[in-house]
Amino acid sequence: MKQIKLQPLNQEVEVSTDSTLLSVLLEQEMNVLQACGGQGRCATCHIYVQSGKEALSPKSEQEILTLSFITTSQENSRLACQARVLQDGLVIEVPQGMYIGSIGELKSLIGKRAQQNLIHPLTGDVLVEEGKLILRSALEKMAEIDSTFTTDLSQILLPPEKSKVLHK
Ligand code: FES
Repeated sequence: MKQIKLQPLNQEVEVSTDSTLLSVLLEQEMNVLQACGGQGRCATCHIYVQSGKEALSPKSEQEILTLSFITTSQENSRLACQARVLQDGLVIEVPQGMYIGSIGELKSLIGKRAQQNLIHPLTGDVLVEEGKLILRSALEKMAEIDSTFTTDLSQILLPPEKSKVLHK
């Protein structure tokens, strides 16, 4: 077992050696959409390593590629579904809200109240603040942000049949 710390929750958790950070987040009942099914292709599981990055498995090629598309990506960025905990001493910063993988996913939430901030996965922009009603204007905001990207991450990296599901 290995110890890791989640910030800003200031929470210490014990995890099985070689488990992914994604499984750790899910065990803590965090909402992670996993729009790509944990394949390192959607960035809805993006976290930052505050310290102890050597406690994690190295970045895969897919992870490096996906992170290269995200404007909020930093040297200490990791995709939780790709990073495995190998040693003690890791401190990570989890998102202050939930990343939304696509306009289709946001559309399915229209009319509901956001339980937490809903965040654009590529830019970190807050699309809907926690506690607010999810309105169509959030779709427009997401579409506007998407239009600033010349590359559609999901179209390029996901298999065509999966992209259709995410964008219907
Ligand atoms: S779940 Fe899609 S990149 Fe991690």
